[in-house]
Amino acid sequence: MTLDDEAIRTRIDGLLAEMTPEEKAGQLTQFFFFTLPPEAEDNPALGLEVAAQPRAVEAALARGGVGSLLFVTDPAQINRLQRAAVEGSRHGIPALFGFDVVHGLRTVLPVPIAMAASWDPALIEAGQAVAAAEARAVGIHWAFAPMVDIARDPRWGRIVEGAGEDPFLGSAVAAAQVRGFQGERIGAPGRIVAGPKHFAGYGYALGGRDYDEVSLGDADLWNVVLPPFKAAIDAGAGTVMTAYMALNGIPATGNRWLLTDVLREALGFDGFTVSDANATRNLTTHGFAPDLRSAASRALDAGLDMEMAITDPAFDHLPAALEAGEIDETQLDTAVRRVLEVKLRLGLFDDPYVDEDRARVVLADPAHREVAREAARRAAVLLRNEGGLLPLDAADLGSVAVLGPLADSARDTIGPWVFDFELAETVTVLDGIRDRLGDAVRVDSARGIPVGRRTFPSMFDMFGGNAPEDPEGFEPEAEFTRAIRLATDADVAVVVLGEWQNMIGEAASRSSLDLPGRQLELLQAVVATGTPTVLVVMNGRPLDLRWAAAHVPAVLDVWYPGSQGGAAVADLLFGDAVPGGKLPFTWPRSVGQVPIVYSNLTSHEPENLGRRYWDEASTPLFPFGHGLSYARFSYADLAVDTDTVALDGVVTVTATVRNESNHDGDEVVQLYLHQRTGTASRPVRELKGFERVMVAAGEERRVSFRVGPDERRYWNAGVRGYVLDPSVFDVWVGTDSTAPLGTTFTVTP
Ligand code: GLC
Repeated sequence: MTLDDEAIRTRIDGLLAEMTPEEKAGQLTQFFFFTLPPEAEDNPALGLEVAAQPRAVEAALARGGVGSLLFVTDPAQINRLQRAAVEGSRHGIPALFGFDVVHGLRTVLPVPIAMAASWDPALIEAGQAVAAAEARAVGIHWAFAPMVDIARDPRWGRIVEGAGEDPFLGSAVAAAQVRGFQGERIGAPGRIVAGPKHFAGYGYALGGRDYDEVSLGDADLWNVVLPPFKAAIDAGAGTVMTAYMALNGIPATGNRWLLTDVLREALGFDGFTVSDANATRNLTTHGFAPDLRSAASRALDAGLDMEMAITDPAFDHLPAALEAGEIDETQLDTAVRRVLEVKLRLGLFDDPYVDEDRARVVLADPAHREVAREAARRAAVLLRNEGGLLPLDAADLGSVAVLGPLADSARDTIGPWVFDFELAETVTVLDGIRDRLGDAVRVDSARGIPVGRRTFPSMFDMFGGNAPEDPEGFEPEAEFTRAIRLATDADVAVVVLGEWQNMIGEAASRSSLDLPGRQLELLQAVVATGTPTVLVVMNGRPLDLRWAAAHVPAVLDVWYPGSQGGAAVADLLFGDAVPGGKLPFTWPRSVGQVPIVYSNLTSHEPENLGRRYWDEASTPLFPFGHGLSYARFSYADLAVDTDTVALDGVVTVTATVRNESNHDGDEVVQLYLHQRTGTASRPVRELKGFERVMVAAGEERRVSFRVGPDERRYWNAGVRGYVLDPSVFDVWVGTDSTAPLGTTFTVTP
C-alpha cells in the first residue's frame, strides 16, 4: 500500500510529538550487527569489541535506540531483531535494514567496474534488479550502493567498486543502478532503497591511499566528481552516504557547505544522509571536533541525518547537545522526519517482517544465475587478439592447460564486497572450461605459483574465507615445473592471472601495479614453451601488462566475473559469446604515469604530449574506451545535421558502423567532443555519447547522438558557475577515445 504525502506527514508529526530526544537520537543511529565465525573474535584485524556488540545492540533496540542495522542478511535473524524493534520499543518503529549489496547478494554479479565495462545501462539495471530482489527477499531494505566515486588513480583499491574515470559513463551507470535497485519508486515490491556513496571526492585520495585527504579544485569537483551523484539523485536515490575523508581540509561528514549547500541546494537531494562507518565519531580523529558531543552536533548541523556506528555512537550525545543548546529540536526533527519518511514509503510500519520460506526460493532463482552469466559475458574486455587466436575452436583441440593461481579460485572469481555467497555454486574459469569441453578434450590444470599475500591483513578477513590459502603440501618449485610441463604438452594454454580479491577494494591501496608474486615469471615461462597462450586477467584495477601486451597473442580481461563467471569466460573463449566490453578507465603502462586520463587539457607544448616523461611514453598502454571483438568494425559517413547552432541549439551527429567480419558482434559506439576556445581551457576530448549496438556479420548500423547545451555546459572556475561558450567544436565518433573519424560544428553567441 502506498501512502500519500499528506498521510506520511501526518503520521510523522504524530510520532515526533510523542518521541523523547533519546528516541529521536535512536532513530538517527544505525548499528553494525556482526554475526561472525567463533574464531573471528580474536582476529587481529578486528580491533572491535565485536563479542559485546550484538548484546548492546539488542538492548538498544528494546529502548527505541536503534533506527537501522547493517550486516544482517539472514531472514530469521532479521525478523528476530525487527520484532525486538517493533514489539519491544515504545512507539514500535520498525528498523531499516541496510547492507552493502554492491554487486549482488547470493547471486554474485561481476564487480561494479566490470558492469561499467559493459557500457550497457540496461544490463546494469537488470543486474541490480536481481540484487534488489534477493536482498528484499531476505529482509534487507537498503543498499549502500551505487558507489559513484570517480577514480583516476588505480593505486586506490576502491576503483573496483565504481565506474572508472569518466563522469559521463559514471553518470549513466549511476542512474542505471538506482533504477535497478529502486524500480519506479521507493517501496516498489521486490526493490530496495539505493544509497549512492561516498559524498564527495573520495576517489581522489592523496597518492591513491584509501582514507587519505582530498584536495580538489572546483573544476574537477563540479565537472567530474559531482555529475554521477547528480545522476543518481535525479534517478530518485533515497539516501546518500558521506565520505570518510576531509575534502579541502573539512571532513565530509561535518562539512555543511558540502552536505547542505551542495548536496541539497545545488544537487536537489531530498532524502536522508548517512555517515560512513564511524565517520561521525571520527570527526574527533580529524581534529575537527573536540569530543563526541561536538562531533554529533556539528555533523547534524552540517546536514548529516543518520550515523553509521560500530560501537559507542556519537549520536548518543545528541540529547545532551540539545540540552546544551548546541542543536535545536527542529534540526533533530528534520533528520528524524527524513528517516521515518523512507520507512513509511517502504511500508515497513504495515509489513515489517519477511517471509523466510519465500527468501529461500528467491535466492535460488535460476533466472538470476542467467543474468549473472550474461553480465559476465558483456563485461569482458578483449584487450588483444593478435592473429585471431580467439575464439578457440574446441574441434581443433586435443588438450588444454588451464594454469595460474586464480584459474580455480571460487573466492577470487566472485571478487571483493560479497559476504552472503555460496562458494560451491561459483563457477571458476577451470570449471567453465571443463564444462564446455566435456570429455572430448583433455583439460589439465595447475596453479603454478603460491598464493600472493597482502603485506597486512585485510579488514574483511574477520568474515572468514577472505584470505586465500595454498593447498596442503603445496610445493612451489614442483608446482611451477608441473605447470610448465602441462603448457608444453598442451595445444593451448589458458593462464588466469591478476590480483587476489583481498588485494583490492577498501583499505587495499597498492604502491605498485605489478602482477603480484611470481605470476609474470609463470606467464613468461608458459609463453616460452611455444604453446599458443591466452591470458585471462582477473582484476579490478589496471595492472602492469606491458610484457603481456607485447608477447601474449590474446589477452581477455574478465574482471572478477561473479558466481557464473567461469561459464561466461568459457562462452567467450570458445566463441559462444563475442566480447564487446570497453575499458572504463585509461590503462597506464606503469604506475609512474598515474594519474593518467584521456580527457586532459591541451596545456603547454601539446606537440610533445606523447613524451612528457623523458624515460617513458606518456600515452597509455590501452586507451579509455578500448575493447576488441571477434568481429571487425569500421566507421564512415560521419555527419552533423547542421554546421552552426546558437548557444541553446542541438546538433544531431550520425555515423555508420560496419561489421567487416563473419562474426556477429556488439560495438560500443562512442562520441567525443572538444570545445576549441572559450572562457576556460577544455579537455582535448570528453565522452558525450555512447550506444552499445549489435551489428550482424557483414551488416552496418547508422547511430545518432544529440549534442545540445547539456553536453556542452560546464562549470567554470573563473566565474564559479556553469557556462555555455560559443566556439568551434570538434566531434569524433568511433570505437574508443582515440577515434580518428571527426568533423566540426560551430556554436554562435
Ligand atoms: C565501509 C565503506 C562503505 C560501506 C560501509 C558499510 O567502511 O566505506 O562503503 O558501505 O563501511 O559496510
